Amino acid sequence: MSKERLDKLISSQSMMTRSEASKLIRSGNVKVNGEVIKNTSAKADTESDTIEVCGEILNYKKHIYIMLNKPAGIVSASRDNNEKTVVDLVPESLKRPGLFPAGRLDKDTTGFVLITDDGEFAHDILSPKHHIDKTYLASTDVLIDEKYLDSMRNGMILGDEQLLEAEIDLIENEDSPVYKIILREGKYHQIKRMIGSTNAVLTSLRRIRMGNLDLDESLASGECREITEDEMKLIK
Ligand code: URA
Repeated sequence: MSKERLDKLISSQSMMTRSEASKLIRSGNVKVNGEVIKNTSAKADTESDTIEVCGEILNYKKHIYIMLNKPAGIVSASRDNNEKTVVDLVPESLKRPGLFPAGRLDKDTTGFVLITDDGEFAHDILSPKHHIDKTYLASTDVLIDEKYLDSMRNGMILGDEQLLEAEIDLIENEDSPVYKIILREGKYHQIKRMIGSTNAVLTSLRRIRMGNLDLDESLASGECREITEDEMKLIK
């Protein structure tokens, strides 16, 4: 990477404004390669320079990828005037400008939401062209009749839309059925509408996997953590 102004570079990694970053620089709280830099227009190279802010090494990342275990009742948006959003749940330590959910879950759906500031990556994983599987657990009040399961597996027609083939398997017992459903596309309320067209009623929906990356079940509802580089490879 080419050199970048320190104030811009520091503010891109947190919710600190550029003028707050400049203030930190002027007050002697920023070091580059061990040397205090007070000149706010100084530049640094994120690959070859060691940048310290308030005594802590800045671990520069061009983009961030966050896994959230979304609770029910939270909207999948960056901002909302009335409702709490998935981005509101990101802790300060992971926050930075431009975060958004790469793919939405309905307000009442729980589970894996990926939050990032990388538009290109989000476009890639959401595009049906790339066929990134999204895996859900859907609970229903009664067993879904076999004829509907077959139609989902073969690519059902919903209204005037032809859906791609979905995988659907019963994974829990007949008294409280739970189906594992794997979709390769993400149409509006897709699973709700698919199950809505059967004899059964959907009682809860949870996303547990994106690509080959499982939701970290050690995350409590509402908790987030950064996705590692190795884990990122499992998504695509
Ligand atoms: N399908 C739905 O109906 N809702 C979701 O949140 C995700 C998939």
